[in-house]
Amino acid sequence: MRIAATQKLPGPAWDELPDVELLDAWPPRERLPGVEALVAVVARVGTTELDILPDLRLVANYGVGYDTVDVAACRERGIAVTNTPGVLDAAVADLTFALILACRRHLVASDRFVREGRWRRGWARPELLGHDLAGATLGLVGMGRIGSEVARRAEAFGMRVAFHRRSGGLALDELLRTADVVSLHVPLTPETHGLLSRERLVLLQDGATLVNTARGAIVDQEALVEELASGRISAGLDVFTNEPNVPERLLELPNVVLTPHVASATVETRAAMTRVLVDNVLAFARGEPLPNEVFA
Ligand code: 8YV
Repeated sequence: MRIAATQKLPGPAWDELPDVELLDAWPPRERLPGVEALVAVVARVGTTELDILPDLRLVANYGVGYDTVDVAACRERGIAVTNTPGVLDAAVADLTFALILACRRHLVASDRFVREGRWRRGWARPELLGHDLAGATLGLVGMGRIGSEVARRAEAFGMRVAFHRRSGGLALDELLRTADVVSLHVPLTPETHGLLSRERLVLLQDGATLVNTARGAIVDQEALVEELASGRISAGLDVFTNEPNVPERLLELPNVVLTPHVASATVETRAAMTRVLVDNVLAFARGEPLPNEVFA
């Protein structure tokens, strides 16, 4: 079976794949007949790309979120799609917490304060006064595997946890009005695209923190930038609407902590994701049921 990959993946499981063709461009510059399986790493796979790979039968997506893959178009052509769920929940929850702590305790501003030689007296400045996590309310939008891991950590920090999900929990607007920290853990789908609209962002309390380790397009990014520029709220952002582009205005703001889509980026987790992806490709090659096929 001919396998192509948009990128080589980390971890020992990668070597179990036979003869992977590493593509030097995505989408490829010319048609690639004969390629049956594609390892896709943050790669858009829509009808244009599928036309270039006329013999494709499997798209193995490196990541739990597969919003970059047009699953309906794949299904129409009889192409299966798989993802890598279940192995990155703890890593994403950890980075979510790193961003919560960084925002609530002014971690980045404090680091800058020291590096810039501005710490001249024994006590740090009032602008570095943060907020306790203990007793604060964390509002989770989405309560699946990752949301639940974040909730576990929040409880250990003494936070109150509220959540909103499709069935059950608080209404979204109520959650936004009452939480000190709001963290997003839903997949990007047509229903969640722009879920945190301009009208909803204004519901956040003065001084609230928004954390996004899910997908940029869940939030109206332009409205978020304006809200952050006003200084009314703070945010920890790992994801953006049009990565790797980050709105210029955010770079100047002290109330924003920015990371480059690294929530799953640990040695252990990335290797585990490779393991899951490789198991799906090998199952496909053997004609066995796919462990992590996605259907919509
Ligand atoms: C990246 C992710 O896709 O799993 C997801 O949905 O967003 C991340 O894990 C992955 O790291 C590829 O770079």
